[in-house]
Amino acid sequence: MLLRKIYYALPPSLRFVVRRLRYLPQDVLQKRNGLPPRGLIYTGDRDFVQQGKEWVQFFFQQGLKQEHAFLDIGSGIGRIAIPLSQQLTGRYEGFDAIQKGVDWCQQNIARQYPHFHFTYVPLFNDLYNAKGINAAEYSFPYADNSFEYACAISVFSHLVPEETQNYLQQAARVLKKGGKLTATFFILDEASETSMKGTEFDFTHRMGNYALMDKHVKAANVAYQKDYLYQLISNSGLTVASSIKGFWSSQRGSRSPIEFQDILTLVK
Ligand SMILES: C[S@@+](CC[C@H](N)C(=O)[O-])C[C@H]1O[C@@H](n2cnc3c(N)ncnc32)[C@H](O)[C@@H]1O
Repeated sequence: MLLRKIYYALPPSLRFVVRRLRYLPQDVLQKRNGLPPRGLIYTGDRDFVQQGKEWVQFFFQQGLKQEHAFLDIGSGIGRIAIPLSQQLTGRYEGFDAIQKGVDWCQQNIARQYPHFHFTYVPLFNDLYNAKGINAAEYSFPYADNSFEYACAISVFSHLVPEETQNYLQQAARVLKKGGKLTATFFILDEASETSMKGTEFDFTHRMGNYALMDKHVKAANVAYQKDYLYQLISNSGLTVASSIKGFWSSQRGSRSPIEFQDILTLVK
């Protein structure tokens, strides 16, 4: 927890350098075919390859079809796109606020799979980007009703309420009728309020309908009161089709196999 605090205290650009240096010896010695170097995987320390595969499998279980058009909101450095490129024949669009991730995906995925396309958008996010476009007012660069499936994995957990509301509305706008959005959240309810106490996921900074893990870096991790989040979802014209508790908030045994955050699949 102390290391996490120190890490968050660094400016975003320095956090990237720290990560790059930490993995430099491994990255020099061990080239990984078709995968980003470890030092460039700024999106979390869990098993990048395995998790990506499990997510893609999950989307297919939820109704994704190979020929569907797919939108990856906050596409990072290709955790979803790499395994999806092996199956999806429809159009893929991903956008993200970090140029390094988008550039890596363009060069290493889109070159080989031209129906995959990545867009860098310089959005402000105090965990990732010290300045930039306000995500609460950003309009996704895609036409209305153009995707059958969208995902936002570990993205809303870095967005404050105005941004979350806008992103849900934007997702609803670009999804076709009946289209789905799978997204992860930290959802505060009776069970999670109890189980998170004293763990590394203790959202101690209460902001009314939501809570923060770090009050200086708001986007570090954001949790939402369940009723409030469901209200934002309904305001955007989406409905909850399925809900799975992540293992951050549930007791052992009832863990979601793939994710520590809670998973919602929303339908338009
Ligand atoms: C924890 S990473 C997850 C990346 C990817 N979804 C995955 O599962 O590997 C969060 C991502 O959200 C991106 N991000 C942060 N704010 C954003 C915003 N307002 N719009 C789009 N992406 C954003 C970050 O740049 C980062 O790549």
